Amino acid sequence: KTPVVGAVDELRRYVRARRAAGERIGLVPTMGALHAGHLSLVDAARQAADRVVITIFVNPAQFGPNEDFARYPRTLAADVEKLCSVAADLVFAPPVDEIYPPGFSTKVVLEGPATADLEDRFRPTHFSGVATVVTKLLNQAQADVAVFGEKDYQQLLVIKRLARDLDIATEIVGAPTLREADGLAMSSRNVYLSGEDRARAKELHGALSEAARRILAGENIGAATAGAGAAVADAGFEVDYLEARHAETLAPVSSLADGPIRLLAAAKLGATRLIDNIAVQS
Ligand code: PAJ
Repeated sequence: KTPVVGAVDELRRYVRARRAAGERIGLVPTMGALHAGHLSLVDAARQAADRVVITIFVNPAQFGPNEDFARYPRTLAADVEKLCSVAADLVFAPPVDEIYPPGFSTKVVLEGPATADLEDRFRPTHFSGVATVVTKLLNQAQADVAVFGEKDYQQLLVIKRLARDLDIATEIVGAPTLREADGLAMSSRNVYLSGEDRARAKELHGALSEAARRILAGENIGAATAGAGAAVADAGFEVDYLEARHAETLAPVSSLADGPIRLLAAAKLGATRLIDNIAVQS
């Protein structure tokens, strides 16, 4: 079984020893409740490194006051079991006060991708919570490469930006979204969905795919995204946003000539908020 450590010192000792032996270290930060999407990040890290460290930490700083921090699934023993099928070498699962000891006073706050008026419009403190913990994890691990999922596309751009801005030497790599057979993006939050909502949940990816197809076929971008938003609402979702943006800057786009385009969406089914995104490309 993959060994589990909870102290930053132990993590550092492990990484120092492996690097001294000439090995490259890959890092995969997660909040646990692992699914095949997370495991695919471990595989991707393994392609780029000799050793893979996976972190499991439900980060209180990235949850808003009315969000699901208290009920977020915490399944460490099952998570470690799941890691048996992939080549993870170490689990770093710190307690909250190892990451935020008494007196902790620093926040990492970005503009740019963190203020694109997408997730940040609905979760105003979320990205500073993510940026703060990811900066800490990157500093703690001193890995050569860290892998993050495109599933959280705005988050991936935020992390790339902060690593560049703060001169963090770890290379940030994005990995594609793993989906269930019906297209629903895998997520630790999918366990919240009731049977009926689980059956409808595929419509989010379905509508994004349809909009991408229409945009590539020449339909007006605003019309295609409005159509997709209406389809998602018809399926019973409450739509927070469904928008076309520039894939690298997240700037609004109005035509295919504006650059590589990403469609990004967030919508609630009952109390469960789902996010998804896809590239517009043939
Ligand atoms: P979490 O939601 O646990 O996700 C951990 C990593 O897995 C993220 O990089 C996320 O984008 C990726 N991921 C989630 N679902 C995926 C899927 N279906 N396919 C591929 N990758 C997927 O994202 C976080 O945790 C936190 O914000 C974190 C970065 C760990 C900071 O606390």
